[in-house]
Amino acid sequence: GPAFALENAEAKGLDQLKRQAETCTRCDLYKNATQLVFGEGPPAAEIVLVGEQPGDKEDLAGKPFVGPAGRLLDQCLKQAGIDRSRCYVTNAVKHFKFEPRGKRRMHSKPNAGEIQRCAWWLGAELDILQPKLVVALGATALYSLLGPKVKVTVERGQVLQAANHPPVLVTIHPSYLLRIRDEEDARANREHFVRDLAKAVAFQ
Ligand code: URA
Repeated sequence: GPAFALENAEAKGLDQLKRQAETCTRCDLYKNATQLVFGEGPPAAEIVLVGEQPGDKEDLAGKPFVGPAGRLLDQCLKQAGIDRSRCYVTNAVKHFKFEPRGKRRMHSKPNAGEIQRCAWWLGAELDILQPKLVVALGATALYSLLGPKVKVTVERGQVLQAANHPPVLVTIHPSYLLRIRDEEDARANREHFVRDLAKAVAFQ
């Protein structure tokens, strides 16, 4: 039926987009990364999750959110009643940015120019997917989606409606939870994150 044909067109569009992104030189991050980490998930997904950038594990696997932050995200989504396998999962920046520290590669934050240049790809993914909801996981995702004026600390837990854009649910990045040392603080923040994610259930 037409729904199936549309899904096929979306799948083809995303495949083509990924192949184009594999040779992207809009910023310099492709030079040191192992490979592009593009978005992944069903083309018919109603919810798109947007992270910051691939980490060490994602850079090696070529898949988004497969490392420690990804495992935590999976657990929190499940607790919130969201099926990750029905979501399209992607990042604001699609190459791993790092500083070598001995044998280790330490995550380093993408700058405004890198986020802006990569936003073209995220925009193209959203144009194809036309989701009911986009979940911004942290400040980099939010900056890429809605620009410099919108702050996580102010808008956390809100679903923002912008013109010519799917609604955006604002929350933190799961890596933030991994950095909290105090056990009680970590537990409370994790519960808050699950409460934020639960606001996406109605869009599933
Ligand atoms: N952190 C992110 O923002 N994205 C990933 O894919 C993995 C870790």
